[in-house]
Amino acid sequence: MSSIIIDGKAIGEKIRKEIKIDVERLIERGCRPGLAVVLVGEDQASRTYVSNKEKSSKAVGMKSELVVLPITVSQKELLDTVNRLNEDPTIHGILVQLPLPPHIDENKVIQSISPKKDVDGFHPENVGKMIIGQTSFVSCTPSGIMELLEQTGTEISGKHAVIVGRSNIVGKPMGQLLLQKDATVTYCHSKTEHLEDFTRQADILIVAIGHAKYITADHIKEGATVIDVGMNRDENGKLCGDVDFETVKEKAYAITPVPGGVGPMTVTMLLRNTLKSAQFTCSNYI
Ligand code: GUN
Repeated sequence: MSSIIIDGKAIGEKIRKEIKIDVERLIERGCRPGLAVVLVGEDQASRTYVSNKEKSSKAVGMKSELVVLPITVSQKELLDTVNRLNEDPTIHGILVQLPLPPHIDENKVIQSISPKKDVDGFHPENVGKMIIGQTSFVSCTPSGIMELLEQTGTEISGKHAVIVGRSNIVGKPMGQLLLQKDATVTYCHSKTEHLEDFTRQADILIVAIGHAKYITADHIKEGATVIDVGMNRDENGKLCGDVDFETVKEKAYAITPVPGGVGPMTVTMLLRNTLKSAQFTCSNYI
């Protein structure tokens, strides 16, 4: 059996076209959505992600502000930057690229972002609201994955969703979103014993662990939907996910490729959150 390859690039592009139209409508009414991205240091992977976010926001007609700070920046300077962006009426979304250098308290920085501009959905107020099902900004990778599941017609209600990885950015919010759609959710992580006993029960398997090709066909139930959040380099330096795509695709009902699966959806949801923030703010004064 050959599975459906979930085309996140195409799905993301389709949603971005819709976002572009809504951005144009807002601009006509005198309100241009603005996204500010703050990057600390020169980490190559972070630079690539940030440049992608900047390009994508410009492509849909948003204002984009990139703030690059040296790796030696003090916590106070970083907090001052966030405060300036909090006060800037032309900025509707603020994202501080993670990880931050060890001398900076990541939680303090996240909490300094106005919850109304927290398009990453990382602020405790937004995380709390999401858990109790209130409108909030939801973390972009999990909401992008929900969109992929919906668009591929994957049934969620009553199904067993197994999440491998428990990060605040992906694993934890992912489980909450699936729970809200009535999945039975199991969290697995680096200390889970007999991982395959759990993953083999998954109707929906979400993998976000950062280990190249760790999940093999032996971990998978026939007919599962497999979502690969990993972004690694294999032994030949080629981009690959946490899932061994070539073998798993023979067993799964549907699977995301790396690249071109989850990645494009994360950026798309960031744009959607920024649009939502601008729509909300601007409707208050238009
Ligand atoms: N680092 C890796 N992924 C993300 C993300 O989605 N948002 C931010 N701010 N940093 C990240």
